[in-house]
Amino acid sequence: MTQQEEVRAQLAEVRTTLTQEQRERQTSEDQMRDVREQAEAKTADAEEREKRLQSALDGLQAERAKLEKQVASEKAKSEETLATLGGEMSDCTSKKIGADERAVEFEKQWVAESKLRKELHNQLEEMVGNLRVYCRVRPASKTELEGQMAVDVKGADTIVVTDHENDRVDAKKFTFTQVYQPDATQEQVFKDCESLMTSVLDGFNVCIFAYGQSGTGKTFTMDGNDEMPGLVPRAMSRIFEDVANRKTNYQHDCFISMIEIYNETIRDLLRDPKADASKVKFDIMRDNLVGMYVKDRTSEQCHTASHARTLIKSGNVNRKTSSTGLNDQSSRSHMIVTLTVRSRNIKAGDQYVGKLSLVDLAGSERLAKSQTTGQAQKETMAINKSLSALGTVIGALAQGEKHVPYRDSKLTYLLQDSLGGNSKTLMFVNCGPAQANYPETINSLNFASRAKSVALGKATKNREADEPAEGKTGKASTAMAAANKLGNDGGDAAKASARGEGGEKKKVLGAKKR
Ligand SMILES: Nc1ncnc2c1ncn2[C@@H]1O[C@H](COP(=O)(O)OP(=O)(O)OP(=O)(O)O)[C@@H](O)[C@H]1O
Ligand SMILES: [Mg+2]
Repeated sequence: MTQQEEVRAQLAEVRTTLTQEQRERQTSEDQMRDVREQAEAKTADAEEREKRLQSALDGLQAERAKLEKQVASEKAKSEETLATLGGEMSDCTSKKIGADERAVEFEKQWVAESKLRKELHNQLEEMVGNLRVYCRVRPASKTELEGQMAVDVKGADTIVVTDHENDRVDAKKFTFTQVYQPDATQEQVFKDCESLMTSVLDGFNVCIFAYGQSGTGKTFTMDGNDEMPGLVPRAMSRIFEDVANRKTNYQHDCFISMIEIYNETIRDLLRDPKADASKVKFDIMRDNLVGMYVKDRTSEQCHTASHARTLIKSGNVNRKTSSTGLNDQSSRSHMIVTLTVRSRNIKAGDQYVGKLSLVDLAGSERLAKSQTTGQAQKETMAINKSLSALGTVIGALAQGEKHVPYRDSKLTYLLQDSLGGNSKTLMFVNCGPAQANYPETINSLNFASRAKSVALGKATKNREADEPAEGKTGKASTAMAAANKLGNDGGDAAKASARGEGGEKKKVLGAKKR
């Protein structure tokens, strides 16, 4: 190969390489352009996004600034409101304290006013001497709670009775000196009777009796049970407490007797049940000083409340009770506990005789409801007969009739001085709360309403004079003839009284016959 050809070949090679390089360069440039274009597009995109974000950020910042401003202004406002509220609150607190104080003051005044109203009412009742009536509603039993209640106690002196089975009968409203809610305690009930206990020591005749349908709580009210003692044991505790407190100025002699009237027969509950009583007649007698009493019944002298309570408990064991359709422990007799107290004022020498009669009547009931037969039915009929006699006597007294048929039953004859004589007498009307007892409840409350209008007149103390009345040979205390067991004279006096021999009675002041 010539040098020329060699150069030409080299040139062609160089040219080929160049062309190759140019092509590669072109490809690289194309690639670079693509990459640049892509990068530029991305940058533009990023710039666009950045712009959008920036604008959103600006918006958010503006919003934040606005909110911060608002928060600051709200904060300032609430601080201002808080300051005002703080002031108002302390104002309210001081006003509330003032209102509370005034409420306490008003409540005190109200309590004092109610007490005064009650005292005045009691004074008025004492002056007028009406038979006082307290109404006690028994709590509903489990079965009764399943049905409707007919009785609604409103306040401390009103009871409203509604017949849910008869819309045409209006609800009936009754008012009494006291009306107890079903949950009233034995303490509350006794508290309202306490002043009468002092009266006994002051020489008054006091009679408390419980009337009402069978199973409504007469025995619970009078006797109660070991956990919830009733009026009788509480009366004993209170009287003997008073006797102890008055020891320096007074001498008191207390005598207890306890009888029941069962099927129109008087039974001495303190007498040994095994002792022969065939010759003892238990006549009802009248003593000028203490009124009616049962001749020849046991009269135990008592010095302590526990002795009195033990005697009464033993008497209760002898009392007739049985299970009826209305009460598992239904009293089948009227029971009367009598505490006769002679009080002698040691300094002045005055002598008074007070008598406390606590009477737990048998229940008023319809034969059908009592579900009794045979002997028990006879009992029910005797109970109804004597309670109907009591109703007639109360009716006659309420109407101011001249003739009052006390002698129609032993019960009314024995209670003669308590119902129409010189006595402070309180009647409990016991009723059940349930609709099932609606008719009996209305009957009892109607009876009680008539009773509350019976005017006994102002009771006077039974004062025993020191000297016999002119022309009379005073020897023994007739009052203690009633107690039948006082010191040396008691026996004679009992006989004298039983014979009705006025000549042996001491002069009696104050105990007027009505
Ligand atoms: N206030 C009361 N709180 C709690 N239980 C009571 C209340 N009153 C009565 N009871 C209960 O109701 C039942 C019947 O009462 P209670 O025996 O005293 O009736 P009663 O009126 O004496 O009846 P009866 O005329 O048949 O003798 C008893 O179990 C008694 O414990
Ligand atoms: Mg009873």
